[in-house]
Amino acid sequence: MHPWTLLLALLPALVVAQDDGTINGPTSSASAAGYSCDPNTCKLPTCNCASTSPPGGLSPSEVPQFIVFTADDAVQSYTLDAVNQFLAQRKNPNGCQPKMTYFTSLNYTNYTLVTDWYVAGNEIADHTMTHVGSPPADEINGNLIALNALAGIPMEAIKGFRAPYLNYTPETLQLLKQAEFTYDSSSSASIPVTDPGTDAYWPYTLDNGMANDCLAVEGLCKGQPKLPGFWEIPMYAYFDDRGVNGPHLMDPWLDTANGASTVNDTATLVYMKNTFTAHYTGNRQPIGLYTHPIHVSKTYPGVVVSQSTIDMINAFLDWAQEQQNVWIVSNEQLLAWVQNPVPVSQLGNLDALKCLTPQVEATLQICNGIPQNEAGLLSHCDFPDFPFYTCYGCPSVEPTPENPNPPQQVPTGQNARYRLPANCSTPFWDPIAGDCICTSSTCAFTDDSRPIGVSRTGLTRVAFGTHPDFVVDMYSRMVPI
Ligand SMILES: *[C@@H]1O[C@H](CO)[C@@H](O)[C@H](O)[C@H]1NC(C)=O
Ligand SMILES: *[C@@H]1O[C@H](CO)[C@@H](O)[C@H](O)[C@H]1NC(C)=O
Ligand SMILES: *[C@@H]1O[C@H](CO)[C@@H](O)[C@H](O)[C@H]1NC(C)=O
Ligand SMILES: *[C@@H]1O[C@H](CO)[C@@H](O)[C@H](O)[C@H]1NC(C)=O
Ligand SMILES: [Zn+2]
Repeated sequence: MHPWTLLLALLPALVVAQDDGTINGPTSSASAAGYSCDPNTCKLPTCNCASTSPPGGLSPSEVPQFIVFTADDAVQSYTLDAVNQFLAQRKNPNGCQPKMTYFTSLNYTNYTLVTDWYVAGNEIADHTMTHVGSPPADEINGNLIALNALAGIPMEAIKGFRAPYLNYTPETLQLLKQAEFTYDSSSSASIPVTDPGTDAYWPYTLDNGMANDCLAVEGLCKGQPKLPGFWEIPMYAYFDDRGVNGPHLMDPWLDTANGASTVNDTATLVYMKNTFTAHYTGNRQPIGLYTHPIHVSKTYPGVVVSQSTIDMINAFLDWAQEQQNVWIVSNEQLLAWVQNPVPVSQLGNLDALKCLTPQVEATLQICNGIPQNEAGLLSHCDFPDFPFYTCYGCPSVEPTPENPNPPQQVPTGQNARYRLPANCSTPFWDPIAGDCICTSSTCAFTDDSRPIGVSRTGLTRVAFGTHPDFVVDMYSRMVPI
């Protein structure tokens, strides 16, 4: 395919991302929420009241400061390149590379890369098939079916959902619960944690309805919708000098700060650090980097991105990671901790934070989501909108919400590929032989995490800005940026 055709094919994905998820002011209030929840009856791990205090009655000093890293939309080499420039070199306090959550929509997605990303330990979540707000059931469920069939993601591994444009309704949440999702993460925490009326709740279950977005989404709150055991993970906004009137939710680096007319990375970094510090020195509610990675991809054809912005994001993460008990995590990792909130000293025991590497011989040829093993074994599905690759055989037509798992198109002289069965893990499944190469715990995964310590390695030490520069932080210290 001619590169120019490819670029045209990809442009809609870019256009879509641009106005995906902006807030302009508070999206909730105590009176609009009308929320009540009794912590004596709503108890972990299956129930948690919306609260600004850490779960499990822990004091903030015993609580990790989580930075949730998410990406939305199509999974392509360009978008993974963009995420990798922020995470690939980093380590959490247990020596593991941070994991993130990819809210995947399937238009323009390269299925092989979803498999690879999942096998590398990241969370794959649902963002509808064709990127529609207020999605009907087939957009939500078709995404599950297609990711399972064509990317080999186990059904039960797809736990989370984010609505395109953050445009969801009470019905969306009902549909998610019906499809046995664990959580939604489409709502906004829109009031600073330093404000007594903050809506920056720790993740909570909807046993007593929603407490976020009560002013923004009709039919939410005042006890609705009641979805016992189903979690909401609010998206925590950053705030510039205007406080509650200057919220920045997704891709804050694309916004102008403090009402200015142009983007100023230095000013963005200042308010991102200030918001982080307010969380860190307060109740340690999580904070998030909610990205549309295509905007900061240096490999996306024809799009110029600001190196200063990329450096600024790395400078922010370096700065955050130099502080104690800071962890960069996926939503599923965050939720695992919230459901079982051990103090920071015991984090090493939490399976969800470990790095487990599948044990597969480097020389073995198997189409399993590990690039060196699957090289040469991928099917190339040459559809005109967007050609993609998969280990699981090309569908005869492009998947759609009405038909998310079309019959395979089997090339002459070959056999159909076997889809992932429920009793084998993706890195061990051979879709060509139809064989599971590991069926016991002894051959499975090794744990590469080390005892928890300080994140001394993996920082980029990037020189942000063209000359040395300093800002004053919340403690009136001069901090190099
Ligand atoms: C799609 O995936 C294949 C196989 O991993 C890779 O070679 C190719 O560069 C990818 N293309 C895009 C645009 O993601
Ligand atoms: C993308 O979605 C639109 C519907 O919004 C559909 O018409 C189109 O065929 C889809 N393209 C791909 C590559 O799935
Ligand atoms: C960018 O923001 C910083 C920090 O607020 C400020 O010192 C600097 O003057 C701004 N630069 C421009 C070009 O406005
Ligand atoms: C997995 O399930 C299939 C049937 O779906 C069965 O034939 C196979 O023996 C099972 N493998 C293991 C290891 O349980
Ligand atoms: Zn989106």
